[in-house]
Amino acid sequence: MMAQCMEGSFVVPESRTETVRARLRRAEAETSEWEMRHHTALLEETVRQRTSELEQTNARLQESLKQLQAAQAQLLFADRLATIGQLAAGLGHEINNPLAFIVGNLDYVQQQLVRTSGAPSPEEQQEMIEAIADARDGAERVRLIVRDLKVLSHPNDMERGPVDVVASLRSAVKVAAYELRDRARLVESLEEVPRVHAPKARLCQVFLNLLINAAHAISPGRAARNEIRISTRMAGPRHVAVEVSDTGCGIPAENLERIFNPFFTTKPVGVGTGLGLSVCHGIIKALGGDISVSSEVGQGTTFRVLLPIHEACAELEPTTQGDLTSRAA
Ligand SMILES: Nc1ncnc2c1ncn2[C@@H]1O[C@H](COP(=O)(O)OP(=O)(O)OP(=O)(O)O)[C@@H](O)[C@H]1O
Ligand SMILES: [Mg+2]
Repeated sequence: MMAQCMEGSFVVPESRTETVRARLRRAEAETSEWEMRHHTALLEETVRQRTSELEQTNARLQESLKQLQAAQAQLLFADRLATIGQLAAGLGHEINNPLAFIVGNLDYVQQQLVRTSGAPSPEEQQEMIEAIADARDGAERVRLIVRDLKVLSHPNDMERGPVDVVASLRSAVKVAAYELRDRARLVESLEEVPRVHAPKARLCQVFLNLLINAAHAISPGRAARNEIRISTRMAGPRHVAVEVSDTGCGIPAENLERIFNPFFTTKPVGVGTGLGLSVCHGIIKALGGDISVSSEVGQGTTFRVLLPIHEACAELEPTTQGDLTSRAA
């Protein structure tokens, strides 16, 4: 259709204008569709790249996590070996005493048998029986010390099971006995409690660290005037509370917040590494327990450990229990 000239100007017919507008709209629609497809393709490509980068970062993080877990396991083990190292002289003494006792009693029996030519009188026979019984007691003491040390120095001990806290505390006391003896009386206030859900050696390591700290807080030589108390009791329906308290020097308020930090120590170089409490904290937190402290300078200190009882943990789904290695702090 032709444009018409009206009073000197061209008038484009209405229908023509509509067609042009329709074409324009179509062209616009096609352009924006193309742009949209272009943008979508760009977006998809960007997402693909980012996903691949994230996957690579994730793999690197997983690798770092594995290395950190291995390093942490080694650190925990090193702390235990360092503790045993610190105690070595005392432990040697603990083993030497009963050994001397055993040898003395066996020598006596041997001499008696030689002297009486194997035919002792009833009194001599009785004395020899008693000497052998004493030697046996001494050997039993050595056996128990070695057993407790073996528990402590076992590296593959991640597995948690039902643990008798009282027995574990007593094992730790036996290993630390030489450190405690000259500084304080040991007072036991042990209630019968259910077994807790923990790795045995780790728990023994925690108690040993707390006992040695308690002993180091008291100067040697005044054992009758000082006390190290170990206690157990239920704390609510699902936890057992274990306390190790001492009548030692106490911890100043400004240090209380720092004592669980790795390498915080007030002991001279060569005496303390400052790892003991941070290792205890890591172990206890990983079990879903808690460790806290209250202290007064000049009065003494109490460390309180809360441990989940085994039965309560067994009720949980196995997946909610996690693994110590993946959660230890
Ligand atoms: N029972 C306590 N009484 C007084 N101070 C304590 C007691 N327990 C811990 N401390 C303080 O907390 C600090 C940190 O204790 P932690 O066990 O972590 O390290 P450490 O005993 O110094 O060295 P180690 O690594 O040999 O255990 C100690 O140096 C001490 O100052
Ligand atoms: Mg310590």
